[in-house]
Amino acid sequence: MSVLLHIDSSPLGSASISRSLSAHYVEAWQKSNPEGKVITRDLNANPVPLIDANWIGSSYTPTDARSDEQKAVLALSNTLIGELREADEYIIGLPMHNFNIPSVLRLWIDQIARAGETFAYSSEGPVGLLKGKKATFIVASGGVYGPGSQMESFNFIEPYLRAAFGFIGVSDVRFHLAGGASAVAQGKVDREEFLKTHAANIQADFQVA
Ligand SMILES: Cc1cc2nc3c(=O)[nH]c(=O)nc-3n(C[C@H](O)[C@H](O)[C@H](O)COP(=O)(O)O)c2cc1C
Repeated sequence: MSVLLHIDSSPLGSASISRSLSAHYVEAWQKSNPEGKVITRDLNANPVPLIDANWIGSSYTPTDARSDEQKAVLALSNTLIGELREADEYIIGLPMHNFNIPSVLRLWIDQIARAGETFAYSSEGPVGLLKGKKATFIVASGGVYGPGSQMESFNFIEPYLRAAFGFIGVSDVRFHLAGGASAVAQGKVDREEFLKTHAANIQADFQVA
């Protein structure tokens, strides 16, 4: 059975462009995988906490030596890593906030990037431990940051996510940039038309798959 992990990180609820488009992806995925399972992780409805000194100390304490308190500190991290392991594929919807990923998604990355769990140090340097996974990111932004655009060099999201996911072993990544959402907010572009155009691009993933 195929498993899809669906992560959303926009604070805007039903008004969110990235949430609408990630929901569209999930719908298309379910049509292609009628027997499949979807795990949903909403980082705004259930925000993950900051990592602190206790968390860092616990994560670097060998598993067998952890106190009950340390185990409790890592419980959420273990759950989140379990979701990454269980799923074959990830769909992650995110807004661009200040040229980067939203802070709730960054907190999630801090929780799942763990030595001995999602990456390991080897004699040849760090190696990612998640294998055979595929990630699709749907990025909504007010401006346009695609290849050749004036603002392309301000897109810190794509290189960062490629590096962060590559580090844990997920190098099969794909980006859908839903740029130009400010025109929707200003009423210059119809929201449904905007969503339809980007949904068609997402749909194409399933036709070639
Ligand atoms: C706090 C905040 C910061 C933002 N920063 C940027 C930015 O740096 N660049 C940009 O193009 N749009 C920026 N925007 C606009 C959002 O990217 C845009 O509204 C997008 O639709 C958000 O995705 P969502 O609709 O899924 O929440 C920002 C919006 C907010 C609320």
